[in-house]
Amino acid sequence: GKGLAVFTSGGDSQGMNAAVRSVVRMGIYLGCKVYFIREGYQGMVDGGDNIEEANWSSVSSIIHKGGTIIGSARCMDFIQREGRVKAAYNLVNRGITNLVVIGGDGSLTGANLFRQEWSSLLDELLENNKITKDQREKYKYLHIAGMVGSIDNDFCGTDMTIGTDSALHRIIEAIDAIVSTAYSHQRTFIMEVMGRHCGYLATVTALSSEADFVFIPESPPSVDWPDKLCDKLEQERKSGQRLNIIIVAEGAIDREGKPITAELVKKVVVDNLQQDTRITVLGHVQRGGSPSAFDRILGCRMGAEAVMALMEATPETEPCVVTLDGNQAVRLPLMECVRRTKAVAQAMADKNWDLAVQLRGRS
Ligand code: F6P
Repeated sequence: GKGLAVFTSGGDSQGMNAAVRSVVRMGIYLGCKVYFIREGYQGMVDGGDNIEEANWSSVSSIIHKGGTIIGSARCMDFIQREGRVKAAYNLVNRGITNLVVIGGDGSLTGANLFRQEWSSLLDELLENNKITKDQREKYKYLHIAGMVGSIDNDFCGTDMTIGTDSALHRIIEAIDAIVSTAYSHQRTFIMEVMGRHCGYLATVTALSSEADFVFIPESPPSVDWPDKLCDKLEQERKSGQRLNIIIVAEGAIDREGKPITAELVKKVVVDNLQQDTRITVLGHVQRGGSPSAFDRILGCRMGAEAVMALMEATPETEPCVVTLDGNQAVRLPLMECVRRTKAVAQAMADKNWDLAVQLRGRS
C-alpha cells in the first residue's frame, strides 16, 4: 500500500483528534500504510519513535478528546534546509510520500515548500548515499493535503476552521456563568477572548450572549469610543438592566493601531461611570476541553476528504487544503488560500480594514 503520514503542527485545537482518526481509518480502508508523525515537523526531522505506524485501534477513543494526541510543536529545525533533508530521509526510509498536515497557515506553507524542494532533497540524499537510486525513483513524488485546525477562524477559503465551534461553546458557557454573578451584584464585566488578529470569536460571542459592546480588530472604533461606550452602558442601566457585558477581542485596536485592552476599557468605565467593574481573561480554557459535535464531524469529514485527495493525486496535482464551503468539504489550492490569508494580515497592518474583511470572505 501507499505510505501516508499524518501530523499536527502549530497551536492545537479541539477536533484535531477527530481529523487524525479519520485520516488513519480512511487511509487504512483505502489500503495505505498509515503513520503518525508525533510532535509535528520536529518529529519528522528527528524520526525514530516519532514516526510510528498506526492501526485501526490506535485511534479508538480519541474523538472526544481536546488537543492532539500525537503532539504538536513549533519547529525551528524544519526552517533550515538541513532539517528538511533529515525529514525527507525519514519519510523515504518508511516509504511515505503522502502527507496530511493539520495546522495553521505557517504549517501549510512549510508543507508546500517541502514539496517544492522534494526532488532536490532526494538528489542530495542520493549524492550522499543515504538512499538508493531505486528509492530515488520510487518515491520521486510527494503529495500534500492540508486541513486548518485553529480556534481563531482566521483562514481564508473555509467557512470554519477545526476548533472554532468548540471554543465558542467554552466561551458561552463561561459568559453565562459570569452573567449570573454580575446580575447579583449589578456589576459590569469585561471579557477578553482569543482570536489573535481575528474578531470572529469576539463577534459571535457578543451576538450570542447579548453583550452591550464589542471591540474587534477589523472594526476599530472612532476616537470618541469612550463616550459611545459609556452612553450605551448608562442607557442599559437606566432601562432596568442590572449588569453590563463588554467583549474585547485580544487583538482589538483603535484607528491608530493602538491596542484596546480590557484594562483600558475598565479604566474608561470606572472613571466615567464609577460602575463596579471586573475583568475576566478566559485564556487557554478556550482551546481546551472536549470538542463539540460540530468539530468532531468537521474533523472526520475533512480527514476523509484529505485522504481521498491524496489517493487521486497525479504527479501534477498541486497541494490542496480541505475547506468547508456551504457545508460541503471542498478541496482548494493550498497556496492560493495561504496567499489570501497573508493578504488579509497585510491589509490589517496597512489599516485597510474594509479590504481585510472583504478578502477574508465569509469566515
Ligand atoms: O491561534 C490560536 C491561539 O489560541 C490564539 O487565539 C492566541 O492568540 C494564541 O494561539 C496563543 O498562543 P500560545 O498558545 O502560544 O500562547
